[in-house]
Amino acid sequence: MNHKPVMLSEAVSFLEVQDGKRYLDLTAGFGGHAAEILKKIPNGELYLIDRDDDALNHLKEIFSGKENVHIMKMNFSNISFSIKFDGILADLGVSSFQFDSSERGFSYRFDAPLDLRMDRSEKNLLDELLSGDKRRIAEVIKLNSDEYQSDEIASEIKKRHESGRLKTTFDLKQAIIDGKKNRDVKRGLKRVFMALRMHVNSERESLQAMLGKIPDSLNENGRFVILTYHSIEDRMVKEFFKESSAMRSVTKKVIKPSYIEVMENKRARSAKMRIYERIS
Ligand SMILES: C[S@@+](CC[C@H](N)C(=O)[O-])C[C@H]1O[C@@H](n2cnc3c(N)ncnc32)[C@H](O)[C@@H]1O
Repeated sequence: MNHKPVMLSEAVSFLEVQDGKRYLDLTAGFGGHAAEILKKIPNGELYLIDRDDDALNHLKEIFSGKENVHIMKMNFSNISFSIKFDGILADLGVSSFQFDSSERGFSYRFDAPLDLRMDRSEKNLLDELLSGDKRRIAEVIKLNSDEYQSDEIASEIKKRHESGRLKTTFDLKQAIIDGKKNRDVKRGLKRVFMALRMHVNSERESLQAMLGKIPDSLNENGRFVILTYHSIEDRMVKEFFKESSAMRSVTKKVIKPSYIEVMENKRARSAKMRIYERIS
């Protein structure tokens, strides 16, 4: 699987990783950022969390035997540690591990059972959404994306669900194509899959809860580096820390990937990085 961690050197450099200190990766995923942090802290501690079992199994494999790495299944909205960290990293969204896997239902590129959950042991909120009112489906699409044909798409999704023809990613893809009526179909597919995924995993709610726990989880001068891929999430981060008296923004502006990185890794295209430091 082709996995390139986004803005790797920037993330590690802004975290100011120093040997002997303690770091937390809230979205360890494929372990790309984590591996780079670990190289710099042979005498430090690295805590890795993820909510996805496939990611956790992979992390346990690649970091097996590393006594200073601690891997835990957790939703980052629930973090509660008795210890504090010198740096925390969050790289939101799905990993290529999830997105490029033909068995997982995250992508319209592969035909797979329609399951947008990161943690498959949790209740599937998609069932509840599809059984409800089509106006609610449209609302969820609109709220989590800028899709302008959300009403038409929601009608097609509802129609298919009611006739038992919404079981796979390709069924959802077809409903979106039918709803889009040849207008901007590719963008529509991307937006609707993302919007439903955000709903199913309560991504905005988890982010809000996690942000609230960051200041108390950091030592003084400890840094928080966060990568977002969606304007809604970037805005949430910016607004949250604007109000914080415990954290200061390290850079004046949001950091974006270089032109070369975007050329080499299209996942980096929409990435935005913000960096904060605990001041009191
Ligand atoms: C973009 S990937 C991270 C990739 C990672 N930085 C790397 O270099 O391999 C995001 C990861 O965050 C996890 N994730 C998303 N939301 C989460 C949450 N609320 N709690 C814990 N993990 C979450 C996903 O399961 C996924 O593995």
